[in-house]
Amino acid sequence: MNTNFSSTIHEWLISSKKLLSHGGIDSARIDSLLMLEMVTKMDRAKILANPNHQLSKKELSKLSKILALRLSHYPMPYITGKTEFYGNDFLVNKNVLIPRPETEEIIHQVSILNLDSKSKIADIGTGSGCIGITIKLLMQNAIIDLYDISIKALSVARKNSKNLNADVGIYKSNLLKNLRTDYDVVIANLPYVPKEIATGKEIEFEPKKAIFADNNGMVILEEFWLQIKKLEKKPKYIITESLDFQHDLNNLLATICGYSQLKKSNLTQVFIVQV
Ligand SMILES: C[S@@+](CC[C@H](N)C(=O)[O-])C[C@H]1O[C@@H](n2cnc3c(N)ncnc32)[C@H](O)[C@@H]1O
Repeated sequence: MNTNFSSTIHEWLISSKKLLSHGGIDSARIDSLLMLEMVTKMDRAKILANPNHQLSKKELSKLSKILALRLSHYPMPYITGKTEFYGNDFLVNKNVLIPRPETEEIIHQVSILNLDSKSKIADIGTGSGCIGITIKLLMQNAIIDLYDISIKALSVARKNSKNLNADVGIYKSNLLKNLRTDYDVVIANLPYVPKEIATGKEIEFEPKKAIFADNNGMVILEEFWLQIKKLEKKPKYIITESLDFQHDLNNLLATICGYSQLKKSNLTQVFIVQV
């Protein structure tokens, strides 16, 4: 593919949008603009205000490379190296799940729990750190610890905590096996997608261990609840994410562990310990 014919911003945008649309990418316009921003270091307004700006050979060569990547359905956040979650930019790479907008619901649910400002909160399966770090930014006095089984994911979470100035603890743990303390709230957005489910082409580039789980997607959540059951001091609240058809089983597991469902919203379930 040779896209070096285009030399102005306008010409490059037209041909990139056409190529991406033909390649089945719905976000062709926005992705093309993001690529231009990334390569030219110009902001969106400047790009749109200067359609006749000549792109240099070096810029065109870089654009060709990332356009080819995008045409293979490589996710845009992995190309730009970042994505927005709850109003903040989080660094991402192929070792972490790209934070999803629907996960912002977890932050909303935490914010309406009326928690003590000094609450202790654990984010299990933190990935990029998006959940725990966002909560720390909203509750500066809270003690927030991030846990993941993947060292590579934890390194991304660490970078995000530094970039966003969030003072959080970061630890490797298989679910709750290495908890540093007891917590008031445990949040767990763990892998829950059944392996049999057909997913989009872009998901194929994300870490499988962050997304898929055996046993109709429930095997990791089952182990999570088993470990919750064994905790000496149980958290008051537990928040999980799973698919709609998994909510009943998740609720049953929570009940066996002494929790009742407080709220359910889209993918999110909030449980409270029974007294
Ligand atoms: C669905 S991703 C969620 C990432 C992030 N919390 C988010 O909301 O974008 C699941 C994460 O759980 C981690 N994980 C999978 N199995 C785990 C386990 N047994 N113990 C701890 N973390 C685990 C994966 O490495 C991955 O980062």
